[in-house]
Amino acid sequence: MITNLKIFSCLTSKGTKTLHVKVYTEKGEFSASIPSGTSKGKNECVELSLEKIKKIFPEVKKRLTGEKEDYQKTDSILKEIDGTDRFEKIGGNLSLGISIAVARAQTEGNLWKLKALKKHRFPLPLSNIIGGGAHGGKTTWQEFLLLPVKVRNPYDAARNLIDVWKIVGEELGRKDLLLGRNIENAWMCKIDEFKVLDFLSDVAKEWDMKLGVDIAASGFWTGKAYRYKSLNKTLKPEEHFNMISDIIEKYNLYYIEDPFHEEDFESFSELTRKFKNRLIVGDDIFCTNLERLKRGIEIKSGTGAIIKPNQNGTLSDTENVVNLAKENRIVPVASHRSGETEDPWLSDLSLIWETPIIKIGVLNPDLPKQNRLFVLWEETPEQEMNKLPAF
Ligand code: PGA
Ligand code: ZN
Repeated sequence: MITNLKIFSCLTSKGTKTLHVKVYTEKGEFSASIPSGTSKGKNECVELSLEKIKKIFPEVKKRLTGEKEDYQKTDSILKEIDGTDRFEKIGGNLSLGISIAVARAQTEGNLWKLKALKKHRFPLPLSNIIGGGAHGGKTTWQEFLLLPVKVRNPYDAARNLIDVWKIVGEELGRKDLLLGRNIENAWMCKIDEFKVLDFLSDVAKEWDMKLGVDIAASGFWTGKAYRYKSLNKTLKPEEHFNMISDIIEKYNLYYIEDPFHEEDFESFSELTRKFKNRLIVGDDIFCTNLERLKRGIEIKSGTGAIIKPNQNGTLSDTENVVNLAKENRIVPVASHRSGETEDPWLSDLSLIWETPIIKIGVLNPDLPKQNRLFVLWEETPEQEMNKLPAF
């Protein structure tokens, strides 16, 4: 039974304030910290300030004290108290924090035990190597990512990514192209997206990794066109579409996230029709929201969906989004945020939701998630590395 709840403020890796929740039961105390994004989708659930949460918290605490530690029941109570679609009243950060802490209470701290799986399939890590956009860096596109595919275990995968990330940094430094690291620990450099892809596509080939991008197109959509500061050009939607198509072919991109702004379901659909065997992934467009994903499925706007629990606000509803995606052959990609905490819950969730890919950075600030995957590899009864998803 839930005997008490408390909230605290803590910091994200960006230095911004975020929420830490503690739930107390007869078995002990269970906590959760909530990350925070930078290039947020406009349809995400609301992230309330700590000051506002403090005002509403007594009501939430009163309602939940005495309830069973059951995250699904808790989630429905949270939705009932809030009464809005996007947690405008109590905040999606408060609801998710409570949801995770209660699920931990239910599993005595081991979220992966929420589901009794015979075999645990470990996700392939997809990592941001060179960055730009809202995360910092010269490129207009936000992330240039690598996905190791021929790896035996999570340690092997992390090791490969660290090695390749170091080599890329050293090489950029040698060529005097390096500017530093951004908030996701990706390299920032002086070259534009084409030169980055020239360089990284060779690296990907050499290391037998898949190459990907998060274009995060809403970040440079003016309402009429796409404004490329890096190229000093403004592209009309059809020019932007053609540029992306050419790049996918030229550089053999496997993973393409948010190629168009968050309301352009049609262009997502057109690109999906054009490139059958690529992972075309919606982040800001779906916002881990059931209704938006349904809309995308109707016209096949993509082959993958980013799963960020704090875009959604509860574990149960995030799980519903994952299930809907899977039923429709949409690949769920469990994802971090660019402002992270030391709480590694995403790793446990990627196992029980069986997401074939987990999008996390190299070393900081996602190191706790990597370390958690190593522990889970030892702790789960039977395990194997996931394969590249079919879609
Ligand atoms: P975030 O977004 O900065 O809002 O976490 C990262 C992403 O677009 O994937
Ligand atoms: Zn994204």
